[in-house]
Amino acid sequence: MDALKALHERVSAPRLSAPPPSGEVLANIQKAAFRAADHGRMRPWRFLVLEGDGLHALGELFVRAEQANNADLSDKERQRAQAKPLRAPMVIVAIASPQVSPKVPEIEQLISTGAAVQNMITAAYAQHVGAIWRTGDYAYDRTVMAGLGLSEEEKIVGFLYLGTMDFTPPPAPEALISEYFQSWP
Ligand SMILES: Cc1cc2nc3c(=O)[nH]c(=O)nc-3n(C[C@H](O)[C@H](O)[C@H](O)COP(=O)(O)O)c2cc1C
Repeated sequence: MDALKALHERVSAPRLSAPPPSGEVLANIQKAAFRAADHGRMRPWRFLVLEGDGLHALGELFVRAEQANNADLSDKERQRAQAKPLRAPMVIVAIASPQVSPKVPEIEQLISTGAAVQNMITAAYAQHVGAIWRTGDYAYDRTVMAGLGLSEEEKIVGFLYLGTMDFTPPPAPEALISEYFQSWP
């Protein structure tokens, strides 16, 4: 797909099925992360790619996170948490790994990691792969972060759900560009 078409038309796909992206298609998505604007080319990120057992293990972590807040978790609540990562056949956990730098503040490194995720979802769309960037409370939960092996400095920027679109998502609403871009002064 033409780059501008993907940039202008990308939409999220909330319902995703197998198969996940693989081979060159997946490699193209991963490679796109590395063209995010990145002050000092620090590559302040890392990514965990989860499929199959990995998704079940993430579900278990979500359950443990719920249990840490509520010892009397009902079966329904447990199942709900366990099933969350199974909404796609692949989840990529995008982790910001900020480094101490005299030149590049932490916030810029977090933004770069977000830009890397944006590049990945656009690269997915350009190849007709469904994608949605999710966070939710689990992204900021210490049980989940520790279970995924994050260091104290690291942060989850997103869970990138990837797979085959169950249906073609409707086009994005037209943006009122002139409301957001104004000449100055
Ligand atoms: C940092 C971040 C976190 C998000 N977290 C969620 C989420 O947890 N659940 C969700 O449904 N959408 C979430 N979204 C929004 C979707 O990824 C998506 O952008 C939104 O539904 C609009 O759809 P569109 O991408 O087709 O315009 C998040 C977006 C960002 C940038």
